[in-house]
Amino acid sequence: MPCKIAPSLLAANFLQLEKELMMINQSEADMLHLDIMDGVFVPNISFGFPIVEQIAKVCTKPLDAHLMIVEPQKYISEVKKSGAYLMNVHYEACTHLHRIIGEIKETGMKAGVTLNPHTPIELLEDIIQDVDMVLIMSVNPGFGGQKFIDNSIEKVSRLKNMILRKNPKTWIEVDGGVNMETGKALIDAGADILVTGSFIFNSANPIETIQKLKEL
Ligand code: DX5
Ligand code: ZN
Repeated sequence: MPCKIAPSLLAANFLQLEKELMMINQSEADMLHLDIMDGVFVPNISFGFPIVEQIAKVCTKPLDAHLMIVEPQKYISEVKKSGAYLMNVHYEACTHLHRIIGEIKETGMKAGVTLNPHTPIELLEDIIQDVDMVLIMSVNPGFGGQKFIDNSIEKVSRLKNMILRKNPKTWIEVDGGVNMETGKALIDAGADILVTGSFIFNSANPIETIQKLKEL
């Protein structure tokens, strides 16, 4: 099965947003990954729901919202209203993760739980049966263009084992420092969806780069 690619809009040229979205629409990308940051959970601020709403009007691909914010449960209906297909919340930001996952699913969105590089996958043993996706951060969240953390590959294969044992329908997505080389290793380890920002948007031909990533 070919892997799925979710370009991260964070690396796009925001002065040319419509053009960048047209490129995504024409490409073989499976989803568009949107990084929402609050300057508290991560040391950076990106964009919020009014921008996502505008993006949803132009983008024909499902929107994969990655919430790098504290108290994400406060914004579930905003995320749904803005047009997201999938809402990812960080394990580290959710005291009542089980409740939050349930609330996300009640809106009709797919629910994802995201792990920072230091958070062990074993903490998912009692929630994995309820989530549609696990997002493994292969960099510390907050910025594009960072170096891939090698331990993520082994982490993905351990997670794959847990998923096969407990909920084989759950997807594994990986985010940060993904290129052809790290992408191939992640797919071999069991990843289903690769998020890539700078590798796609900084390439000479982003449509071709997406196509090549899909062939991994
Ligand atoms: C980082 C974001 C990523 C980022 C990835 O906090 O979650 O989605 O855009 O960018 P690259 O692919 O450049 O590492
Ligand atoms: Zn992200």
